[in-house]
Amino acid sequence: MKIRDIGFSIAVAAAALMATTRVEAQGQLNLYCSVQVEWCQAIVTNFQKATGIVVNMTQRGSGENLAQLRAEAQNPRADVWFGGTGDPHLVAAEENLTIAYKSPMLNQLHLWAVRQHEVSKGRTVGVYFGAVGFGFNTELLAKKKLAKPACWADLLKPGYKGEIQMANPNSSGTAYVIIATLVQLWGEEQAMAYLKKLHPNVNAYARTGTGPIKAVARGETAVSLSFVHDAVTETNAGFPVGWATPCEGTGYEIGSMSIVKGSRNLANAKKFYDWALTPDAQKLGFDAAGQLQMPTNKSAPLPPNAPDLTKIKLIDYDVVKYGNTHERKRLLGRWDTEIGSLPR
Ligand code: F6P
Repeated sequence: MKIRDIGFSIAVAAAALMATTRVEAQGQLNLYCSVQVEWCQAIVTNFQKATGIVVNMTQRGSGENLAQLRAEAQNPRADVWFGGTGDPHLVAAEENLTIAYKSPMLNQLHLWAVRQHEVSKGRTVGVYFGAVGFGFNTELLAKKKLAKPACWADLLKPGYKGEIQMANPNSSGTAYVIIATLVQLWGEEQAMAYLKKLHPNVNAYARTGTGPIKAVARGETAVSLSFVHDAVTETNAGFPVGWATPCEGTGYEIGSMSIVKGSRNLANAKKFYDWALTPDAQKLGFDAAGQLQMPTNKSAPLPPNAPDLTKIKLIDYDVVKYGNTHERKRLLGRWDTEIGSLPR
């Protein structure tokens, strides 16, 4: 090795040592993330930059993440679960998979986010809000001479046969919110009968909640059942995507965050939790990833072009009932046997 090369090697080794020392000093954080991957990545980069804590992130749908936490209950690998619909976070709280934490940021949050904290006895907190509705490809609808859907009832029309996509409620929190919404609107029997009638019009039950609206954007399906903020994200990205909220009324999510029981990096988990509730961190969803949920911190601005929630006919979604382990299992079981298993 030449002298010059030795010098280079020493410099590289010293830099590596310094980096390792810094990592060891600040430690790590294992993050399970259930928002869109671009937002998860922006969270990782910005939290690392702000704190020096190295973040290992895995992205999964809300139902999948709950299943993962259950599977790892004896040997938890995650420290924090960020995002995803509120119901599975409440289920995780009830099943003792997450722990209570009272962040000093709580008094900066909207009441609906704090209520999520209270209902879970401090084990989860709201990080954003979004309403359920329809997304549609305006060009495809025009080509197929189909009207834009405006009501739940419209989706049953024979013209939409094979044109609609929704997610599978086992893996996707979005799809579970949709089912719970229909049950709250009409009662369980009518909701199940509706989903059975809808089945011939559904071409696929996607794994994640955003799968169907991405399929709409790509022109693979005409209509999706989605959170409407995800439809606007596709419109803003230049796709021919429109959206509507059902005339009969609709449900919503309180996207949530929880600290995992048995976290091996508890101090960092709390640091992350407090940071994620700051206006700056909450702005990242839109600034870095074009996401349009309503943030939970009262000082975080509503993203431009975000769906106007005051114009949507929202039901009073019962988070206690539908975030209950038994109720969720029961409804998913009914969907599996009565709808998911139907031939297509
Ligand atoms: O990140 C977009 C989003 O719609 C969130 O608002 C929501 O919490 C999440 O996806 C739900 O994803 P899934 O239905 O796959 O659990």
